[in-house]
Amino acid sequence: MNADTLKRAAAARALTLVEDGMKLGLGTGSTAKHFVSLLGDRVRGGLDVIAVPTSEATRAQAQAEGIRLATLDEFPELDLTVDGADELNDALDLVKGGGGALLREKIVAAASRRMIVIADGSKRVARLGRFPLPIEVAPFGLEATRRAVARAIAVAGASGELRLRSATDNAPYVTDGGHFILDAHLGTIEAPDALAAALATVPGVVEHGLFLGLATGAVLATEDGLVTLGDV
Ligand code: 5RP
Repeated sequence: MNADTLKRAAAARALTLVEDGMKLGLGTGSTAKHFVSLLGDRVRGGLDVIAVPTSEATRAQAQAEGIRLATLDEFPELDLTVDGADELNDALDLVKGGGGALLREKIVAAASRRMIVIADGSKRVARLGRFPLPIEVAPFGLEATRRAVARAIAVAGASGELRLRSATDNAPYVTDGGHFILDAHLGTIEAPDALAAALATVPGVVEHGLFLGLATGAVLATEDGLVTLGDV
């Protein structure tokens, strides 16, 4: 099975958690895209849900699927968010933001009673950090923020290169919120809580991709079948 088939299988399992009348958060990325596509099928079949997208890309896809959309201001409390992840461990701590949508993804996840991660099995790790940690920063004062982020990473006992994410045209990648992303190539994150706390003290850091204590469950699709973690 290729990765895409596995991602769709995880998305299909998460779809079984969706009930009529639910207020949903829709994630971003190639796995979440499968969920939105499958949800669209159900909506066209009569399922009545309302959804808050976590990116402009997901908004466009959900709109094209005919899914009724709302803002988080209209519905500040959601029943269920389904989203992908770049890495997750068995404690359901995540690294997210590979697709650049971490800020809205984290706000939406935090506003949801349940957050279910969908992924192929390759995203499951014993320790976070192999995937570069995305850190969303304000463009103003970028160099000062970069240095302060490097110090915060050192304070948390980690180390590694910080790279400004580029768009395809070599200009800095710009998020939906108009910010830049520094990708921290740490290799391993021994103390995710300490790192999250240290990054939160840096002026100019808008958000980071450590999602700690937000996911309530996960569906991982492997060659041997579906594996669930937490409350699914
Ligand atoms: C986007 C994300 C995605 O959920 C993450 O990058 C996983 O993407 P994919 O499902 O394409 O592997 O955090 O900001």
